[in-house]
Amino acid sequence: MPARVVVGSQWGDEGKGRVVDLLAADADVVVRYQGGNNAGHTVWIGEQKFAVHLIPMGVLRGKPCLLGAGMVIDLDVLLEEESELGSRGVPVRGNIRISENAHLILQYHKLIEAAEEERRGERAIGTTRRGIGPAYEDKAARRGIRMGDLRDSDALAEKVDTVVTYKNLLLKNVYKSPTVDPDKIYNDLRVLHDHFGEMVCDTSLIVQEALDKGQRVLFEGAHGTMLDIDWGTYPYVTSSNPLSGEVAAGAGVSPKALDQITGVTKAYTTRVGAGPFPTEMAEEIAASMRDAGGEFGSTTGRARRIGWFDAMVVKKSVRLNGIDSLAITHLDVLGRFDEIPVCVGYRCGGEEVSDFPNQIEELARCEPVYETLPGWRADTSQVKRFGDLPENARAYVRRIEELVGAPVSHVLVGRQRGQDIVL
Ligand code: IMP
Repeated sequence: MPARVVVGSQWGDEGKGRVVDLLAADADVVVRYQGGNNAGHTVWIGEQKFAVHLIPMGVLRGKPCLLGAGMVIDLDVLLEEESELGSRGVPVRGNIRISENAHLILQYHKLIEAAEEERRGERAIGTTRRGIGPAYEDKAARRGIRMGDLRDSDALAEKVDTVVTYKNLLLKNVYKSPTVDPDKIYNDLRVLHDHFGEMVCDTSLIVQEALDKGQRVLFEGAHGTMLDIDWGTYPYVTSSNPLSGEVAAGAGVSPKALDQITGVTKAYTTRVGAGPFPTEMAEEIAASMRDAGGEFGSTTGRARRIGWFDAMVVKKSVRLNGIDSLAITHLDVLGRFDEIPVCVGYRCGGEEVSDFPNQIEELARCEPVYETLPGWRADTSQVKRFGDLPENARAYVRRIEELVGAPVSHVLVGRQRGQDIVL
């Protein structure tokens, strides 16, 4: 499979990091195509935890990694990530290239986001406060600063001055917040350019060259389908398109190049931040799963909300992403229940709902319909073959396949590299 995409099929945090780490072993190039350091991909190798937010997971396998045009990049975070990985023996510098078309996240984006979340009060999105939304706003408004802009110092000075004048008006007059210093922003960017400049290029050419040579390119999605700005639970979404369709625009590759789309889904459901969550479970049960599943945001450390598996969500993701195969993660965490409810559909005013609604107001009127499957009360964390899972665990996986309409290719039973079952 020369070009494979890994996408999240729920609200993010499905365990894409682990799946990408697994698949990257056979890849020649790994590419991120959207989002920024709101993402957090984690893998444990022995007792060591590795978490990356911007650099594709393939870096841990020593693979060339690209940060695509659809991303928004906070260079201070990238610098930290590079030095943290470097200090732990993971070479970064020679292995990453950054798209000249990727947009920058700057200090004012974070200040504006914090002020805007405060202003929204009870209606706050619960963002990661990494400046993601405001950076994509500037991109759409055609006033963003891109990686390639750092090359021309005179043009950069003018761009920074123009945008900061506008942002300071907003900060001062609308949000009554402290303003930012354009000279500092400019000077910091020049220093960052000295460090990163040689890694900046048109990454789409590298992807194309790899594909032309028949090499294997792995596209690493971030977040999840239900956080997609167009298809998620708007407005409680992120500001980019995590969907597989974004690979084409975000990485700069023809949609015809994609061969295999792997969706990652937890064996249950989680979300962080505000917004609707039909199968959210009672906090007592959630609390019992939180430690076992490591259900704390890898970017913000917030406790994740937890719910039962929702087939309506994943079925919609299978359709929107064109998912060919599913990787089910965290199956081991369910080994503590006698019975496991699975949401097989929704009802609204007594009527069956055929598809996951796009409007959150309609979603709020839906009642999940549950089917109860027998649990397996066993530790599956050391199981290596599907046939060796308890019968009820296998039946659970098979029922998910049936409900969402996609075959399962991988089952992950622990956070460590190697705790994987390949079907
Ligand atoms: P933002 O992406 O920081 O603007 O946050 C918007 C919403 O998306 C919030 O509910 C976040 O918690 C959520 N979000 C963004 N990225 C991730 C992720 O990688 N995993 C889970 N939730 C995320």
